[in-house]
Formats: sequence, C-alpha cells, structure tokens
Amino acid sequence: MTNREIDRRSALLGAGTLAVGTVLSACVVEQSVPAEQPAPAKQPTTSVPQATESSAPTAQPAGDLLTSAKDVPAGGGVILKDQKIVVTRDDSGAPHAFSAVCTHQGCLVTAVGEGTIDCKCHGSKFDLASGEPVGGPAKKPLPPVAVVERDGGLFQA
Ligand code: FES
Repeated sequence: MTNREIDRRSALLGAGTLAVGTVLSACVVEQSVPAEQPAPAKQPTTSVPQATESSAPTAQPAGDLLTSAKDVPAGGGVILKDQKIVVTRDDSGAPHAFSAVCTHQGCLVTAVGEGTIDCKCHGSKFDLASGEPVGGPAKKPLPPVAVVERDGGLFQA
C-alpha cells in the first residue's frame, strides 16, 4: 500500500467516521429533545370518612338501672331529672320510658298522672304509654327510651 493509498483510505475513513458521527449526533440531538410526556392519569380521589368520636349525649349507658320497679305505679310514672328520662306504666302495668325534655321548647316535664306526662311551661300533655302529644302546643312526641323490667328494677335497654 502506497502512501497515497493510505492517505486516501484515511480520508475515506475520516469521512465515514464524520458521517456516522453526524448520524449519531442527529440521534443524540433527537433524543435530547424532551419528548412530550403524557399527563399522568388523574387518580380518582376518594374521601374516606374519618372515624370520629360521637359527642351525642346519652342519658345512660345501655343496661343501667333507671328506678325500682315498685316506684312506678300502673297509670303513673317517675321523672328522673338527672337522666332527663320519664319512666311510666300504662294501665296494664307495662313499663315505658321517654325523654323528659318537652318537644315544645325544651323544658323538663313536671308531672305524670291521669294518663299523661305533663309539661307546665306551656301546658303540653303527652300520652304516658306512647309519648304522643295529646294537649297543649307540643306537636311532636317525646322520644322513646327502651326500657326492660327485671330483678325488681326498670333498666334502660
Ligand atoms: Fe313544654 Fe312548652 S316547653 S309546653
């Protein structure tokens, strides 16, 4: 191989290298252009309710003794001011209990007798067996409280 042939091969090799380098550069340039990324799919948002402590007042935990069974006569009742519960017995002797908070404007009921639970604030009267309003301005019944009789006592169920 002559020097001239060597120079020619070198020139060709150089040109080839240059051409390959240009192609690679083009590839590199193309790769270096930031490709447009698809927007990430929106994740569905879910809201998980957090457990919270209830602040609703309860008159008594379930099963608590409300009063002695003998203290509630048939056709009468007992108002438990601290618990805000009125315990009654209908004429057959079946026990009942209700919230003692009058549904008219929130006074505590004041008496039980003659088949009714009475509120003296404005004269509302409620049936002692059902809690339904039977007189005066109250239009809603007294909310019932579950009660059971056992072992000589009346217990909140
Ligand atoms: Fe009881 Fe008005 S609050 S009758």
